Amino acid sequence: MAAVEQSLPRSAPLAESAPAPLLRAEAVDLEYRDGGRQVQATHQVSFELYPADRFVLLGPSGCGKSTLLKAVAGFMRPAAGRIVLDGRPVEGPGADRIVVFQEFDQLPPWKTVLQNVMFPLVASRVLKRSDARERALDCLDKVGLSRFRDAYPHQLSGGMKQRVAIARALAMQPKILLMDEPFAALDALTRRKMQEELLALWDEVRFTLLFVTHSIEEAMVVGNRTLLLSPHPGRVRAELDCTEFGLESGGSEAFQRKAQHIHSLLFEVPR
Ligand SMILES: Nc1ncnc2c1ncn2[C@@H]1O[C@H](COP(=O)(O)OP(=O)(O)OP(=O)(O)O)[C@@H](O)[C@H]1O
Ligand SMILES: [Mg+2]
Repeated sequence: MAAVEQSLPRSAPLAESAPAPLLRAEAVDLEYRDGGRQVQATHQVSFELYPADRFVLLGPSGCGKSTLLKAVAGFMRPAAGRIVLDGRPVEGPGADRIVVFQEFDQLPPWKTVLQNVMFPLVASRVLKRSDARERALDCLDKVGLSRFRDAYPHQLSGGMKQRVAIARALAMQPKILLMDEPFAALDALTRRKMQEELLALWDEVRFTLLFVTHSIEEAMVVGNRTLLLSPHPGRVRAELDCTEFGLESGGSEAFQRKAQHIHSLLFEVPR
């Protein structure tokens, strides 16, 4: 019985114990208005995120991945459709959704590592100072940065800065952790290491992740489910189960075959 359960995708809603989706995007159109010009970023994008999902948005540059993330974060409202979190439409930003960006400069440089991680906890009055310090130290420990708690961001490598940003986000215990190409600016080895660490962290904490990338391999390794988006404006091409793949499966034939399949789904023009 246990083996059967394990082979099911984690997010697969089982008939009786089906968890409700944590987040639902329903036919979402997102648009920018630039003076008189209107740019449509996505067209009727729908997906569902279940608790402890590692859900990936994958698609070519300009297909609207970051825009979708912004909308889930509440920085942008859909022109049509809606985004529902825990049964309520998303109407603005909130501490229940925290974003980790690609840029290394997302940490205020005048705060130490510990102060950076504590700051949102204290500023949003989630915890009192002493409790915030304790939780921040715990999260820094989880990302392996306890020794650097008194360092300033400029004293850290790019990978370390991203670890601080992840610790800061996790410390808030958001309902959904949103990551927009968080490892894209890192060298290949560090990127791989960060993917490993993220998965280890997920194993420990079981947070719900919405992760954006344009790397097919990264999507397959990081995600349990991946939404493929067409080129601009982004439409859903397919949703794929990637549960069977992990960091160790990179060179396998099944991995290569699936990567090729994803590539053709992404780039072949549908007739
Ligand atoms: N602030 C903005 N004003 C006007 N148009 C925008 C703005 N931001 C993005 N766009 C447009 O919306 C579309 C989607 O952009 P978005 O940044 O979401 O793409 P993306 O999939 O994240 O791409 P990348 O992989 O390059 O990060 C693009 O055509 C882009 O030019
Ligand atoms: Mg982007």
